[in-house]
Amino acid sequence: MQAEKNVLLVDAGNVFGYPGVQSRLKSATAVEAMARMSYHALNLSNLEFSFGLDFFLNTAQQFQVPTLSANIVYEDTGDPVTAPSQIVSFDNFMVGVTGVVGKKYEKNILESNTENARPVTVLEELTALQQQINIIRDDADILIVLSNTGVERTKEIAQQINGIDVIVCGHGADEIKSPYFINDVYIVKAGYDGVDVGKLILSLDTRNNIIDAQGTVIALEKTIEEDSGILALIDDYHKSLKEHADELFDFVPKTPLSGGAYVGSATCAVCHASQTQQWNTTDHAKAFDSLTIKNQDYNPECVSCHVTGFGYVGGFKRPDYTSEMADVQCEMCHGAGGEHAANPQPGYGQISSLACIYCHTSDKSPNFDYATYYPRVAH
Ligand code: HEC
Ligand code: HEC
Ligand code: HEC
Ligand code: HEC
Repeated sequence: MQAEKNVLLVDAGNVFGYPGVQSRLKSATAVEAMARMSYHALNLSNLEFSFGLDFFLNTAQQFQVPTLSANIVYEDTGDPVTAPSQIVSFDNFMVGVTGVVGKKYEKNILESNTENARPVTVLEELTALQQQINIIRDDADILIVLSNTGVERTKEIAQQINGIDVIVCGHGADEIKSPYFINDVYIVKAGYDGVDVGKLILSLDTRNNIIDAQGTVIALEKTIEEDSGILALIDDYHKSLKEHADELFDFVPKTPLSGGAYVGSATCAVCHASQTQQWNTTDHAKAFDSLTIKNQDYNPECVSCHVTGFGYVGGFKRPDYTSEMADVQCEMCHGAGGEHAANPQPGYGQISSLACIYCHTSDKSPNFDYATYYPRVAH
């Protein structure tokens, strides 16, 4: 897209994730990626407060991603917490960008902002927006509002506020496949989680008035070439997880619902040699390697399906402590086997096809079919 002329890249906000150690690392990586892509504006929204406003502002500043908000101000002085708007100049026209977050998310913002942070207030978005537009409208040929308010509220903004050309809507999983046109305002919205990107092509006449707008939502599928720089950045993020292993893998193991503790396949092998031999030939027996070669062995989001008993007594704890519990071992299908191993009885380990789809989800194993998959692991 950057090969095209006069491209403005903006985000309506909630680029950050929910609070958590891994989420914080991932969120900072997302902002760094936006910097590499030369984003022009990121609208401050509720999730940007997940690790405290200062963390967000420092991260954006470190990577030089321009942030804005017309309606989040410091409670004590009423000063905006970041630039309320900005003007981006192109060859022969200027674009003004401003943004708001829904007043209805103020509670989330106040709750997630860290304890000692300087308190903020979210102003009613229509009033704050109209004020900001009055200030920049004359300097901009095209005026774009980033609206992290959801679709319904965004429609009200289009109807009630004058001077807007385009609203990039955020909040919620819904997307607008082709732009709405309400009160001379184009409203666009892409999906979420970075799975697609919205593209709006504006055609201008000689006096820089919009004469046509074509909008699409482009799914970022495998057919779209990957960027080696961004891939390297993501790889660095994966590698960095190892340095944070103490925080990421800090949990108290739970007791399995039945069967006692997890004991591992080496214990089962003593009495079930033939099944163990067969299991060793399956991909389940090397499932953890698949993470290691991708530098994702310290990624808690991956391990649960690629190891045995993650989070449970006797199960996998972290790569450097419990390598014997790596891979998809016997107990991931048969259930925790501590009691059975100590006192072998018939009846243990009965399983149904449901045992498979705990891991073979439609997302992670789209071709899964019990009839064709089972014979490949049967023993
Ligand atoms: C000390 C030996 C021993 C160990 C260790 C052991 N088993 Fe068994 N297992 C047996 C015996 C014996 C039976 C057969 C019981 C019967 O049919 O009387 C059995 C039966 C089973 C069955 C079939 C149950 C049934 O009713 O058909 C499964 C599945 C099984 N074991 C899985 C495991 C797994 C998984 C482990 C490791 C967590 C394990 N076993 C550890 C001895 C053992
Ligand atoms: C704990 C999670 C988990 C469970 C439960 C599980 N699997 Fe898997 N399975 C995996 C993972 C992870 C892989 C990929 C291993 C790799 O290559 O890294 C896999 C791979 C496979 C493969 C090889 C696929 C290929 O492309 O070659 C087959 C076949 C398979 N599983 C069948 C099953 C069946 C049948 C069941 C249920 C009886 C089952 N699995 C239960 C996690 C699981
Ligand atoms: C919900 C369970 C689950 C989670 C979580 C999961 N995987 Fe898997 N993974 C699977 C299953 C099941 C397969 C086998 C898919 C098949 O062959 O049908 C698999 C296969 C793989 C493979 C080998 C096949 C391939 O596509 O190249 C790799 C590599 C892999 N996973 C990496 C990861 C990474 C990295 C993560 C974390 C970002 C992850 N997995 C998280 C279940 C999971
Ligand atoms: C991918 C899932 C899966 C894994 C992993 C797995 N099994 Fe099984 N196992 C099955 C299924 C399915 C059956 C068929 C019995 C059933 O339907 O309950 C079975 C049957 C068995 C039986 C009974 C065999 C018989 O002849 O009646 C034993 C014993 C057993 N498994 C032991 C093991 C041991 C030991 C391991 C690890 C080395 C292991 N299994 C790993 C799915 C699995």
